[in-house]
Amino acid sequence: MIGTDVARAAQLLGDGKLVAIPTETVYGLAANALDPEAVAEIYHVKNRPEFNPLILHISSAADAAKYVTDIPELAKKLMDAFWPGSLSILLPKSNLVPDIITAGSSHVVLRVPNHWKALELLQQLDYPLAAPSANISNTVSPTTAQHVEEGLGSQISYVLDGGECTVGLESTIVAIEPDGVRILREGGISQEQILQIEGVKLLENELTDIQSPGQLKKHYSTIKPLYIVESISDYLEKNPNDKCSALLYEDIQVNCTSYLLSQDYNLAEIANNLFATMRKADADENDIILIEKVKEEGIGRAVADRLRRAGTARI
Ligand code: TXA
Ligand code: MG
Repeated sequence: MIGTDVARAAQLLGDGKLVAIPTETVYGLAANALDPEAVAEIYHVKNRPEFNPLILHISSAADAAKYVTDIPELAKKLMDAFWPGSLSILLPKSNLVPDIITAGSSHVVLRVPNHWKALELLQQLDYPLAAPSANISNTVSPTTAQHVEEGLGSQISYVLDGGECTVGLESTIVAIEPDGVRILREGGISQEQILQIEGVKLLENELTDIQSPGQLKKHYSTIKPLYIVESISDYLEKNPNDKCSALLYEDIQVNCTSYLLSQDYNLAEIANNLFATMRKADADENDIILIEKVKEEGIGRAVADRLRRAGTARI
């Protein structure tokens, strides 16, 4: 059931139930992070592999100290600059954090969401929330309460409606290392934004599945094949009999059904509309979804990452 009652959400969470919550990135499927049984239900409902750890959501940086054993200066700088906001930070966990949150790892990922309703809820609770995206694993993440209801409605008691997510893609996840910051997942805060913080160095990424177990190759999938192509027009010319829908970065003419991600190649807008538009194209009468490669700068890197994981093939 969809509703807007924060007190009701708090009550259900207190009873060990799952509640979907709005954040600025995507909707989360939340449970009391300190209640291993409630957290186990998240894995069950999402059909999430047990080796894939969960992000701990807290209401402010002041709360972080309880759940980690050390907050290096570099982490403090990032918290000051980006919290509340779409940056999640990996730090050594304290004994308060159950092993089921971190899938057995010694480190936990923390984040303060930048959504007034999520913050109001977190402030009413005396525990943090574990919250992965509120979708079945490997499907497109939800950016509205209705998306959550379509995917998980029958299995959860309440979807707290906070409107459309303003960022539309998941948070950026970073590890803090002695000589700098390593990006484990591209997301709502870009490399360029992180580099603007004085004294912060980005470490070369040798991304492995072990560093961020959730970065599985296939993820965020549409039901229909999604092809990342050099040119939509060329594809349509060469394959005139394919029934295609195109996702466009700007208002151009193509010879098939089309959906605009932005009027004028605005990357923030493209990121914001990506998941909702993938869903629309998935639901129409055509067989294939086409999209061109995106400019890999700013939040475009996160868009490119999600497309690589959603895409069926590159042509
Ligand atoms: O924007 C977001 O981060 C959203 C909203 C709801 O806050 N949450 C989200 O959660 O995207 P999820 O579970 O869909 O993705 C979390 C990612 C996974 O790839 C997971 O492997 C990684 O974070 N992660 C979580 N805890 C970790 C840990 N202790 N070590 C390494 N990676 C971790
Ligand atoms: Mg997810």
